[in-house]
Formats: sequence, C-alpha cells, structure tokens
Amino acid sequence: MASPRALLQSIPWAIAPIIINAPMSGVATKDLACAVTSAGGLGFIGFDDPRHLNVQLEEAKSLFKNVTVPSGVLPIGVGIIALNGPPSTFLPVFAKHKPTAVWLSFGEAKDFSRWSTGIRSVSPNTKVWIQVGSVSAAVQAAKACQPDVIVLQGSDAGGHGHARGSSIVTLVPEVVDTLAEHGIEDLPLVAAGGIMDGRSAAAAIMLGASGVVMGTRFLGANEAKMPEDYRREILRATDGGEATVRSTVFDEMWSANAWPDLYDGRCLRNACYDDVQNGLSIDQMRVRLYNNIYKNQNEEVDAKDVSSFWAGSGVGMVKKLERAGDIVEDTRNDTRNRLANAGNWS
Ligand SMILES: Cc1cc2nc3c(=O)[nH]c(=O)nc-3n(C[C@H](O)[C@H](O)[C@H](O)COP(=O)(O)O)c2cc1C
Repeated sequence: MASPRALLQSIPWAIAPIIINAPMSGVATKDLACAVTSAGGLGFIGFDDPRHLNVQLEEAKSLFKNVTVPSGVLPIGVGIIALNGPPSTFLPVFAKHKPTAVWLSFGEAKDFSRWSTGIRSVSPNTKVWIQVGSVSAAVQAAKACQPDVIVLQGSDAGGHGHARGSSIVTLVPEVVDTLAEHGIEDLPLVAAGGIMDGRSAAAAIMLGASGVVMGTRFLGANEAKMPEDYRREILRATDGGEATVRSTVFDEMWSANAWPDLYDGRCLRNACYDDVQNGLSIDQMRVRLYNNIYKNQNEEVDAKDVSSFWAGSGVGMVKKLERAGDIVEDTRNDTRNRLANAGNWS
C-alpha cells in the first residue's frame, strides 16, 4: 500500500490528510477549486469545453500569481470526461496552463491511455489521476496507463459512476490487496463516495486511501456554482439512501441516454424515477415530465421533479451553506483528531 507521503510530495502546498473537491461538471468551477487549494487541499475544476476551461485557468493563474510551486504547475487540477474527447482539443490548454493534475473519468483503459500519453507529452509535471469504480477497472487502468493516482469511486457517490459497484468500505481494501497481488504497491489511491466529514474521511484513510474526495459535501459550499432550486433541494434532503437513488432514468429524462451501459448515476429521487418504477415507459414518463413543466402557472412545480439534481447518499448531512475553505479545514482537523485518538480504548 502506498504511503500517504507519496501523494503529498506531488502537492507540496497541501496539508495532510489531503482533502480534494470532486471535479463536478458545471458546479466545480475555478471559484471552488481555488478556495479548496487555498485552504491547503487540492481543488479541481469540473469538465468544461476547452475554450471555457482556458478562461477559468487564466483566472486561476492570476489568483495564484504569487504562489510558487517547485514543479511549475498551477496548483489546481482539471476534470476530464474521457468519453468526451478527443484529447487533441484539450492538449493546448494543458500545455499552456500546466494544471497540477488531470483527473480522467468515464472511459475504458484504452481511452485513459490515449489521454495519459497526450497529457504527459505536453505537460510532463502534470499528474494523471484516473477515477474508476471497480477492482478490475482499477487493475486495468493501473497496468495500461501507469497513472500517478487512482481515484476509487464507491457506490454512495453522487453523479455518474459504475452501475454495478460497491461502497468504498470494500472497494478500497480489495483494490489495495489486488494491486499488491499484481506487484503494484506504491500507487496512491484516493477514496470518493459518501465522504462527508472527518468521520468518513478518517475511515477512508484507515481503509487504505492516501487522500479523500468530497463532491456532495461541497454542494453546500458558497463557491459551488448551482441554481438556487438545486441548492435548496440539497439543503432540504434528509435520509440520503431514500432521498437519492442510482438509475439511468436521470439521463433519459430529455433524450436518449448517451452513457455506456457500464454507468448510471446517483441523483435526488424524483417523479420521473418513480413513474418508471411504477411501470411507465420512458416515453410516457417524458409526456408527464413535459406536462409538469408546462403546468398552469398557479400550480407549484417541484424543481427536483423536472431536473436531474445529482447528489450522493451523504446528502442528508449537508445542512447549511458554508465557505469551502471552512469545509476543508474542519474536515481535515476532525480527521486528524479522530485518527490520533482511534486507538484510545481507555
Ligand atoms: C453534482 C455532481 C457532479 C459530478 N460531476 C462529475 C464529473 O463531471 N466528472 C467526474 O469525474 N465525476 C463527477 N462527479 C462524481 C465525483 O467525481 C465523485 O466521484 C463524487 O462526487 C464522490 O462522491 P460524493 O458525492 O459522495 O462525495 C460528480 C458528482 C456530483 C455530486
């Protein structure tokens, strides 16, 4: 199992244990990423088209102009959905801005391999992170791409992920053991999915993670870019296993599902999901959805019934709006205390 020190060396400004924000498309913009990095974590910007990404990285660069990182990289990372290639359209952006890391997700080992080669050729100090949701995908990615970090995404995670998956409670240790069987012992793993505070972060580190990713928790950050009704529903949700559900329905609400069968997504449960569960076809569900949207203006429409509000099963623990920096600092301090006191039985 890799020592957490290996990950820290590639993020020299970070304070252990490393808290990372997930690259949530549209939600994690440069405001969230910069706030997380400034608090001693590692911030990621979510997937965006190359032109917008370039603008965001330009703004981040001016914010960090007085910060010197020895390897010359920009102290934030970028998320890439590997299915949304081709890499060639993004490589000039990476060459120009040299992010600390590019986090690849949603693709096959051959896609990750193509992206990794391209990224390393234009920005050799940028680390390649690959997010996967199964033991076999972790082994394949580790062998095919020699990533610098593997992100293990458990089934509690909000947003898209492996439809057949387990929680990080079993995923992380089984990946540690299986990689060791393949002679891979020094590859840092970070855990994602259901980590909401110092309790779950400490647990993830005990399971073998070198750092922890939070997505859903940062949906309660002031710096997350979200429509008001999305934010309201996140703060209102309780009992995450009931309030959220994994399904492909959320990708079928408006048009055909473009995602490969390997993936579904965890979202706030809504009327569209319930309709399909109750036997409606996708077409019938869409008719009800449109009727719902164009309801008489006097009738109230529940925003979550006409939207895909992606969220993880930890959503019931997002209770208030906070500064992203406070989330990072509180989680880190609590994790440290819990790990320090874990063996105290008396
Ligand atoms: C709103 C939202 C959007 C997401 N978008 C992306 C994305 O664009 N790319 C990606 O790799 N993961 C995405 N994810 C998944 C995260 O990378 C991460 O695995 C997940 O947030 C971790 O679980 P948690 O939400 O329980 O913290 C998203 C998650 C959420 C909640």
